[in-house]
Parts: sequence; C-alpha cells; structure tokens
Amino acid sequence: MTEFKPAEACNGIEPFQVMVLLDRAQQLAASGRDIVHMEAGEPDFSTPAPIIAAAQAALELGDTRYTGGLGMWPLREAISARYQSQYGLEIPASRIAITAGGTGALQLALRANLNPGDEVLIPDPGYPCNRHQVSLLGGKPRLLAATAESGFAMSAEQVRTAWTDTTRMLMLASPANPTGAVLNRDQLASLSGVVREKAGLLVVDEIYHGLNYSSADVSALTIEDSAWVINGFSKYYGMTGWRLGWLVAPEAAMPILERLAQNLFLAPSTIAQHAAMAAFTPETLAICEQRRIEFSQRRDRLVQGLRELGFGIPQAPEGAFYVYVDASTFTQDALGFCLQLLEDTGVSVTPGVDFGDHRAAEHLRFSYTTSMARIDVGLERLGSWLSANRNT
Ligand SMILES: Cc1ncc(COP(=O)(O)O)c(C=O)c1O
Repeated sequence: MTEFKPAEACNGIEPFQVMVLLDRAQQLAASGRDIVHMEAGEPDFSTPAPIIAAAQAALELGDTRYTGGLGMWPLREAISARYQSQYGLEIPASRIAITAGGTGALQLALRANLNPGDEVLIPDPGYPCNRHQVSLLGGKPRLLAATAESGFAMSAEQVRTAWTDTTRMLMLASPANPTGAVLNRDQLASLSGVVREKAGLLVVDEIYHGLNYSSADVSALTIEDSAWVINGFSKYYGMTGWRLGWLVAPEAAMPILERLAQNLFLAPSTIAQHAAMAAFTPETLAICEQRRIEFSQRRDRLVQGLRELGFGIPQAPEGAFYVYVDASTFTQDALGFCLQLLEDTGVSVTPGVDFGDHRAAEHLRFSYTTSMARIDVGLERLGSWLSANRNT
C-alpha cells in the first residue's frame, strides 16, 4: 500500500486547539457532567422561523436543483438591496457572489488574488482560517500584533512599516474574532489609505456586521469601493449550519470568480439560498435585532463578571459575541488552563493560542453564545475554582 504523504502545503495547518476541548467537553457531557459552553463561535439561537419556513416552502416546491456558480439572482438582488438600505451603498447584484459560508468567500477572494510567495498582513489575534488559507495557496501570512492597548486594532503606521515589496494584501475583520473589536470609520479609512498608497488589496471580513453594540456598522465599501468584502448569513442571521455567505468584489473580477466558484464548489447550496431569501424581511430582522439586544446584555454581564474575577479587559468589546481576556495573572499556558478548568468545573472556554502568537498563551476567549443564566453559572464556577486554586 502506498504510504499517505500529505501535500507540503498542509504541513503548516495547525489543528484548532478548541477541538481538543470540545472533544473532552463531549466526553464529560456523555458521562453526565454539566458543561457550560463558552467556547462556541456560533449563536445559541436557532435559525429564525421565517428563514426555516422559506426553506420548507422551497422544498415543497421541489426547488432543489443547482443554481448558477455565483448563486441565484434573486438572492444576489436581495443582498444588493440590503447594501442600499443598510449602508446607503449602490452595490449591483453582479458584484455579489454567493458562497459556501464566509469561509467560501474567503477562499474565492484569496484564490483570485494571491500568487505563491505573496505576503498577506493579518492582525494577531485573528480568525485562524485566514492565515491557514493564505498558507495553503503558497502565500505568506504575516501576523501583526493588534494589542489590547490599541483596542485590538492595527494602526496605519504599523501596516505602512510592515509593508514590503512582496506584500500584496491587508486582511481586516470588523467586528473581529476573537476580540470583538470594531474599527470605526476613521480607522478603516486610514488603514485603507495605506493599502491604496501601496497599490495593494484590502480584504475586509464583515461577517459579524449586525452584531455591533455601540455604533452603526461601517462597511469598508463606503470608504473603498475596490475593497473585497466577505460577509454571510452565519452569525447575525443565525444560519451557521446552512453554509451560506457572500463576497463583494470589483466588477472586473466577477468572470474569474465565477470560473473559480464553478470549479471549486459548482454552486452554493440551493436550499440554503431559498432560506436566505427570507433573511432581510422585516419579520426576520426584528428577530435578529431582539437577539442583538440580548447579546449586548450578556456581554455586559460577562465583561463585568470577568473583570471582578481579575481578568484584564481594558475596553469592553463592541461587537461579535466574544470577550478576549488577559489571563496573565492566572496563567502563562492558556491551553493547559482551559483543559484544567473544563476538567474541574465543566466550564469550556477557548485558549488564545488558536488565534495567533502575540501573548496568545496568556489570553482566553469567552463566547457569550449561551443564556444569561448559564453565563452566571459559568462565572460562579470559574470564581470558586480560581479562589480554590489561589489558596492551594
Ligand atoms: C471572522 C470570521 N470569518 C468567517 C467565519 C466563518 O463564517 P462561516 O461559518 O460563514 O463560514 C468565522 C467563524 O467563526 C469568523 O469568526
């Protein structure tokens, strides 16, 4: 038998540490332990009922065949209309590609632009798929520290200084995972200005738009029309498992994107697209808005509770559903800390090491994708555990 030898590009792909935790959490749950899940990157709410009803209606009609590679026109039109109503932006449907989740949009954006050896500037901490997908294509992810002191935002000066002859792209996310940090219009404009000055490419992940607790969302497209913007239905619209997202790209890129999409995915899921047709209706948006309010209340409770326990949170996160805390008073080994915490208390949180290198072993990510009552249980158990361990 021929021995399996993974392709070289696969060697740099690290497993998500959170999976080790999830496996253990599942084992513990199976043995009867009560687990407080604060590790998950998805809303605990199920998909809004009008979206599910739209999928059911399409199924009844037997509307289950392939759509075009870039998705079905009515949905592309609906997203275009949403850009108009949400941001006052004219984004024609022809510039919108429907993809398999935000992750599919990321893949299309990278494949369409990167050549082997191209460097990509990425904030650290950041969503791990970004750097892994860059590596898979032979690109070079270059992590730039986005520190708590700077509100987890990279500065324009930092990007300008880091830019080299081989740098091709700056990737940003706002609101960001794992920090929940939101870039305001001025920050986006100055970062985008550097990319323009360097004749590079700006890719902005806006998948957490809608989950913003302090300000109106600012799309990078309102500042830079040539930006490539990733978005999707997973987070705000509660559709993680449906696997549906979109990419906004310049008109000139669309024929290439269509060929890429056809060859990589053939087409996005038809039934998910029918479901998403109900995502922007007033009925669904009212449900999503209610959930946003609930998330913001949970955020306030969690931030306050974690601060009281001694975790460092210089600024409350403004978006997404994560709190990224400095746990250096308690540990220099985030993964070990998380595993022990889970074992002893059943509280499951994510170690910073999944998100980059910068002080990652001293940071933890708490998700508030669980009810207020469960957040309270989690804080209570965490507090008792910390005081017990302090006294030993
Ligand atoms: C910043 C960011 N982008 C993209 C995704 C993936 O989105 P999707 O599930 O739509 O592929 C995630 C998921 O956690 C994320 O945090």
